[in-house]
This record gives sequence, structure tokens and C-alpha cells, in this order.
Amino acid sequence: MKRKVLGMVLATSMVAATLVGCGGGDAAPAATEPAAEAPAAEAEAPAADAEAEAPAADAAAPSGNKVGVAMPTKDLQRWNQDGSNMQAELEAAGYEVDLQYASNDVATQVSQIENMINGGCSVLVIASIDGESLTTVLEGAKSAGIPVIAYDRLIKNTDAISYYATFDNYKVGQTQGQYIVDQLDLDNAAGPFNMEITAGSPDDNNATFFYNGAMDVLQPYIDAGKIVIPSGQVDFATVGTPAWATETAQSRMENILSSNYADGTNLDIALCSNDSTALGVENALAANYTGNYPVVTGQDCDIANVKNMIDGKQSMSVFKDTRTLASQVVKMVGQIMNGETVEVNDTETYDNGTGVIPSYLCEPVFADVNNYKELLIDSGYYTEADLQ
Ligand code: BGC
Repeated sequence: MKRKVLGMVLATSMVAATLVGCGGGDAAPAATEPAAEAPAAEAEAPAADAEAEAPAADAAAPSGNKVGVAMPTKDLQRWNQDGSNMQAELEAAGYEVDLQYASNDVATQVSQIENMINGGCSVLVIASIDGESLTTVLEGAKSAGIPVIAYDRLIKNTDAISYYATFDNYKVGQTQGQYIVDQLDLDNAAGPFNMEITAGSPDDNNATFFYNGAMDVLQPYIDAGKIVIPSGQVDFATVGTPAWATETAQSRMENILSSNYADGTNLDIALCSNDSTALGVENALAANYTGNYPVVTGQDCDIANVKNMIDGKQSMSVFKDTRTLASQVVKMVGQIMNGETVEVNDTETYDNGTGVIPSYLCEPVFADVNNYKELLIDSGYYTEADLQ
């Protein structure tokens, strides 16, 4: 019976694709109006499904008022922002919130989710630590008829996931790759430029999207010999950083620098998938490298990294306005709770092993020293004082 309810939610969601862009930097709680169509300015943003239509909603609304929000860790600035933004918006919308952080420990996250299921949550929002480790615990959610939204990171190998909300992860990588192409004028410059790659955590589904997005932009330049990789470390399995740990990225880059650049060879490009890994690479550069400073990419616009951007130690970051994602997820929760059609804008990209999960992809944009004030300060994301 309960399975049937979830089945209805899923069935509705599968056909309820509605093309809408992400609502910019607006932190206001999301309205629950059924989506009509994409605003013109944002029509190019979402990845797929321009033809998808939104039929009338008919999903059974869950009873109860409590929303469980499981976040991976407090160690990274962004997850604190994600969690607190969502809690504030959900509470403002009248929901009770059980917000938990799991110290990047899978067993802790599993038991937190168990408690949420047993504690009467009607909807779960989960940013997983390891996208492949929640299959068993989510059986419980499924049999209790509790819809689950995968937050930012796809949860794999379980049909208990109703929706996925994230930023366009492939585009994050493309943005990093394109920034490198533009900064070094790779279409015109002869090169060769030396590059080293630091990717994300192999247990995070997003990490391969970031890597592939960047490499798809850069590969033609590698093939043309304009970019070379002196360490020879290229494939994802070799360049990944377990747990996205700054220290791991730092020690790996220290080894690469001492083996390949100690003779005065210049490093021109440090492609880093996110800010925590970029920070490790920047630390390694500060301690072990005296050549020309490379283009260093990142993602998240963490405060430490924006400061480094201002200081010339990091070239760019990808700004993913966590207020936007939190608002979208709050909107999804409201739509689920009210038995309404849930807005999604991608029904092609994210197959979790049990089928494609209807997704809402928000738009990432690059930030660098030239536009960070407008993006980060004028929008109220940070204050000037935060960045001092
Ligand atoms: C997120 C990134 C974050 C990384 C490390 C990824 O799943 O999308 O924004 O930098 O995890 O926490």
C-alpha cells in the first residue's frame, strides 16, 4: 500500500518534467505554484527536456509536517550554508526540521537517516557522503512511503529516490575548462602549457561529472599538444581526492611538484575540481614552487578561496549559490507535501542505476577577481568583512 503511494509519487514525477530555470540568487522561500514555463532569460540554462510538459499533479500528499535534512559534514563551509538555508526556509514555510550533519562518516549518516525514518519525517532531503551506501537504509524510507530528495549528490542503486536537485555538475567542469582556455588563449597561443589535475572524491557521483566536463573542454588541446601533463597522471582514478580532503590534495601536489617541477619547470594550469582541493594545491605551491604562478580553478566560492582569489593565489571558483538550491528544494518539499506536481528541468542526465531520477539542475557561474563583488557581495552572499 505504502509502496503504491510512493509509486504514484514517482510515476507522477517521471512525467511531471517542467522546464524552469533556477531562480537566480533569490533566497526567498519558494512559492508552490505549478510551474508554467521557463522565463526567457533562463531558458537556455537547464540541460534537457525542452519538450517536457507538466500534467496536473495527482501524487498523494504525505501526512505529517516534519522534514529530515541529512548533510554530510560541517567541515566544509558550503554544507553549513546549505543546511542552515534549508532549515530557515522550511521553518518559515511552517515545517518542523530535523537537520543532521554526519562528520563525513557513512555509518553516522545511515543511523541519522534511520532515526529520521523512525522519528516521523514525511520527506527526507539527503546530501550523501557515499552515494552508494544508502541502499539498505533507504529501503526503510521506501517501505514507509517517505519520498526522498537527493540533495546536490546523486544517491545510487536505490529506487527510493523520488527526485534529485543539484547544480549542473557537468557544466561546473565545463566552466572550469573554458576558463582555462580563455585565460591562456589556448586557441591562439602555441603552448605547450603544463597542467596537473586534482579531481574530487571517487565516492561522490558529482566528481566524475566535474572531471568529465572539464576534460571534455580541455581534451582537444591535450590532443593538439598545447597542454601537456608532466606527471602523466590523467585518468580520474589516479587524480581523485578521497573525501575531497585538502591535506590529501596538498600532499599529492607536493609529490608532483618535487618529482616534475623542482628543476624550474613551470606549472601553468592546476585544474582543481573544487575549493577544498584547490586550497591543498595552493598550500603545496606556496611551500614547494617558485615558478610562474599557474591558473588555479576551484568551485564553491568558499571564503578562504575567495580571499585567495583576491590575493592572486586562486584564479577562479565556480559560484553555486546555495540559497538557490536550498530554495528549490524547499519548493520541491512543499510540492510533495501538497500533492502537487514537482518541478524538474532534467529527465535525462542522472541515472542512479535504477533508472533516471527526475532532476532540477541549477545554474553554476564562474567567479573571479573581476566579478566576485557583484556575484558575492552585491547579492548579499557575503559581506565585505567576511572576505577580510
Ligand atoms: C559538491 C561540491 C563540494 C564537494 C565537496 C560536491 O558533491 O557538489 O560543491 O565542493 O562535494 O564537499
